[in-house]
Amino acid sequence: MTYDFSENTKSDITPMIFTIGTLGKDLVGMELGVEAGDSFLTMLHACPNIKTLYGIDNYKPHQDMIYGLQEQTDQKDSELHQFVANHRIKHSGMSEKVVLLEEDSNEAIKKFEPESLDFIFIDTYMTYDQAINDIRSWYPIVKSGGLFTGHDWRSDIVKTAVYKIKDEVEPDAVVFHYANCWGWIKK
Ligand SMILES: C[S@@+](CC[C@H](N)C(=O)[O-])C[C@H]1O[C@@H](n2cnc3c(N)ncnc32)[C@H](O)[C@@H]1O
Repeated sequence: MTYDFSENTKSDITPMIFTIGTLGKDLVGMELGVEAGDSFLTMLHACPNIKTLYGIDNYKPHQDMIYGLQEQTDQKDSELHQFVANHRIKHSGMSEKVVLLEEDSNEAIKKFEPESLDFIFIDTYMTYDQAINDIRSWYPIVKSGGLFTGHDWRSDIVKTAVYKIKDEVEPDAVVFHYANCWGWIKK
């Protein structure tokens, strides 16, 4: 028996699943910030048009400050997330589609050519500066016509960062948002 996340309607990526479904065949996609793999496995199982799904997570202790409250993830939480993500991928029945890079996103980005991803879901940022950095640095890696998307639209910090970068890189783009996700199709 393998895991089946295809009907998981509670993951952070759930509002974007149909949009990913419209992007075409043999997609190469990315989740930045995999944690225990809830959204990752949901994409993997609910989007048969994905050929390769990259995931990045450094699995380090951190403090999440984007909602003002400081949410603490300590060493043992990080280790558990790392174990669960790897375990779920191993038993996903689709591990051949997965590339999980357990390193910092600022290091991992060096492995990717510009315009090489059909979509990205950004869910790493813990602060305004990190949101600016992650959104700005990963935008060029998405193909023209690809989906540039992320989580935590309900955070004012993220909302401000998304609009700031959008105005820098693609002022005419219309940011759509729903159920705590944001995104736009890159021109
Ligand atoms: C909010 S959680 C992601 C939740 C996941 N996307 C989901 O929907 O289930 C954020 C994750 O980003 C990771 N992270 C934070 N900063 C990172 C960085 N600079 N490089 C790699 N991973 C990072 C954390 O370890 C954490 O697991």
